[in-house]
Amino acid sequence: MEVDWPGLREIATEVAARAYAPYSGLRVGAAGLTGSGQIITGCNVENASYGLTLCAECGLVNALHARASTGSESEKSLVAVAVVAGDGDPLLPCGRCRQLLLEAGGPRLLVDTAQGPVELGNLLPAAFTGTDLSMRRDGQ
Ligand code: THU
Repeated sequence: MEVDWPGLREIATEVAARAYAPYSGLRVGAAGLTGSGQIITGCNVENASYGLTLCAECGLVNALHARASTGSESEKSLVAVAVVAGDGDPLLPCGRCRQLLLEAGGPRLLVDTAQGPVELGNLLPAAFTGTDLSMRRDGQ
């Protein structure tokens, strides 16, 4: 699927302006393209109890699952993601969000960087996945 990276980055920048980041002062916006061509967004939401902060990618993944859909696999998975700070420049997802995005798009998910798109599998190699759970849990 053709990805309009400048367009995706622009949407992420618009969403970053709506972030709630009074504590860090770092606004973050995320825009994702689904396998069915839809655009999903999220922004960071901070809290006076700092540890409760929600990253922009958390909002994005929540929106991916929360919206009405026919339930098809392509509708529920991401193929490309742009994450930016308030200045519009790409911001690489934190470790927790790389893990979260992995389950929403898999290792081939394309992530925008200042040097161009990279596959998520390169940003999170040797990841823990549901396969580890199913193969290693008690009683298997
Ligand atoms: N933040 C994100 O939204 N996504 C990331 O991948 C990195 C960090 C937010 C969380 C917090 O509100 C602010 O950036 C500073 O850490």
